[in-house]
Amino acid sequence: MNILVTGGAGYIGSHTVKQLIDAGHRVVVLDNFYSGHRWAIDPAATLVEGDIADSDSVSQVLQTHNIDSVVHFAGYIVVPESVSDPFKYYENNVVGSLRLINACEQNDVQRFVFSSSAAVYGLPDSKKVDENARLNPINPYGNSKLITEMTLNDVANAYQHKDTPFKFVALRYFNAAGAQIAGNLGQATPEATHLIKVACEAATGKREQMKLFGTDYDTPDGSCVRDYIHVEDLAAAHLKALDYLADGGDSIRLNCGYGQGYSVKEVVAMVKKVSGVDFTAIETGRRAGDPPSLIADNTQIKRLLGWKPQYDDLELICRTAFNWEQTWQARQ
Ligand code: UFG
Repeated sequence: MNILVTGGAGYIGSHTVKQLIDAGHRVVVLDNFYSGHRWAIDPAATLVEGDIADSDSVSQVLQTHNIDSVVHFAGYIVVPESVSDPFKYYENNVVGSLRLINACEQNDVQRFVFSSSAAVYGLPDSKKVDENARLNPINPYGNSKLITEMTLNDVANAYQHKDTPFKFVALRYFNAAGAQIAGNLGQATPEATHLIKVACEAATGKREQMKLFGTDYDTPDGSCVRDYIHVEDLAAAHLKALDYLADGGDSIRLNCGYGQGYSVKEVVAMVKKVSGVDFTAIETGRRAGDPPSLIADNTQIKRLLGWKPQYDDLELICRTAFNWEQTWQARQ
């Protein structure tokens, strides 16, 4: 396939680009380097520096490279920032995605894989959440993902009778974590807020300590429970999604997680174990907007895409994240 990857210089995007190249696809990366890194882009990919909202440039890229498939990662991802600056999130994640989708439809792109999020569920009613659960985001970030899912659905419906109909897979990520098994890629966000990254920074001494938000939840040990998925398995799901659409699959939204929850305390203990460092994790009050527990029901993605997790192992996730943190800090 001829694939445009937006945000291909970012954390999950760069891992996916590498896997797409290894699978023999031709890849064009579109990135504005808001948070991505040039070194993270596989050298076999073609780089276009630009913005998803620039419809003319996007159309030109789609035509020049005869793009038939788009994997759309580019977007802002910090939940608290979305609460304090909703314009920023609606502008980039919603309006930017709308312009990109419009350009794709006009240029006969047939396959579109979108980075959605478990944030579309908000506070789930059940222990494991499936795709039919109530959609009730509790912050602008989650809203922006849900609006883009709705846009994709409406566009797919409107143009289903074209010779080359537009079809999409929206992957609802749970908690992406870890780093490439080969050790060359990982999360390199400067102001990281994600638990495993923060814990690894505490273990290397980059941070003096970390905070553990909330110990009075109605969960087994009182701290929040999440479904951590290794970034390589998450990247692999995008390749499976493209194959599914190429084989004639219908547009769909799918959870992408392991279906296994770990508490914040368990994760912190695991990072201490793999690093051998007993760093300080200060137990403090709840962080606003945190659901107590968020675990994927992944029945559908396994069944429809034939996706088989290979790195479903918290220790491996934490070890690859810690090794990467050391590599990344040594490079700077
Ligand atoms: N946590 C800490 N200390 C930290 C960082 C996080 O205790 O320094 C806790 C959080 O309070 C939460 C858990 O660790 O209980 C996980 O927090 P993350 O920030 O790592 O991840 P979230 O579950 O908040 O967010 C993830 C994705 C978002 C997505 C969301 C869906 O990163 O993009 O899931 O709920 F929107």
